[in-house]
Amino acid sequence: MKFPIFPSQASPFSKQVDHVYFALLLFSLVMLLIVVLPMFYFLLKYRRGKPANRKEPRIPETAIEVTWIAIPVFLMMGLFGWAADLYFREQHVPPGAMEINAIGKQWMWKIQHPEGNREINELHVPAGRMIRMTLASQDVIHSFFLPEFRIKRDVIPGYYTTEWFQPTRVGTYHLFCAEYCGTQHSGMIGRVIVMKPEDYAAWIASGRPDTTLAQAGERRFRELGCSGCHMGSSVVRAPPLEGLFGKPVPIEGGKIITADESYIRDSILLPASQITFGYQNLMPTYQGRVSEEELLELIAYIKSLGPKQPTPNPNNQ
Ligand code: CUA
Repeated sequence: MKFPIFPSQASPFSKQVDHVYFALLLFSLVMLLIVVLPMFYFLLKYRRGKPANRKEPRIPETAIEVTWIAIPVFLMMGLFGWAADLYFREQHVPPGAMEINAIGKQWMWKIQHPEGNREINELHVPAGRMIRMTLASQDVIHSFFLPEFRIKRDVIPGYYTTEWFQPTRVGTYHLFCAEYCGTQHSGMIGRVIVMKPEDYAAWIASGRPDTTLAQAGERRFRELGCSGCHMGSSVVRAPPLEGLFGKPVPIEGGKIITADESYIRDSILLPASQITFGYQNLMPTYQGRVSEEELLELIAYIKSLGPKQPTPNPNNQ
């Protein structure tokens, strides 16, 4: 029977994370031997009744102190730098990544693809592409854990977290919840299905609903009455949303916030917390009126409104 101690390596980061892990393990093992082997040697050498020399030895104490402190500090700082570099690269989402949303709920993972496809406890992705996950929770803290991709990220209610990975091998992998979240926590399990890009395109096409995520958001935008204030012809003066996404927004009080997913989320649920400079606080809160899924649809719609692309200049290539 196969008994895998380590999850297989299904992304470039998997290998790099494992290298750090094994370096740490090896370092600890060497330190253990350096401490434990002499300990046993001296236990035997100086045991009671043994005629060993017990006079206090003359040793250069400062030199020994400095050596045993400096060498491990130097090695551990090296390990720290190595791991920190990897950590920061894992935090930094590269541009051009494909965007998929996951919502944790007691006790399942709900997935939204930008094309409008939805799935539960299954995440289909194309091999080779970088995948950026926006993670939300509609109840308690969950943790989005893909062991084969060496990804684990807490999913916190009231807040978006992001994570990215690049699947390199076609296959089926684990998706776990790694944060105890109630009675059925152990059943909050799913699968990541990595497909060849052409198979993925066919899978998206076969299950594609009538509306994309952004179109569903646009419908929601009208139903909730957002368009009354935020669209060009409106009488009420509200900040325009075209081209907003990704731009810096000056806030009352002098702060500047980048209009990312979390900013739009807060603007919908806690509008009074960040008034755009030069505007009045007229917007009611939508807390309790929109679900996590609807919020992500609205965000997809606002993202689709911009930024406006400049016309490409063929002479500029
Ligand atoms: Cu969700 Cu544990």
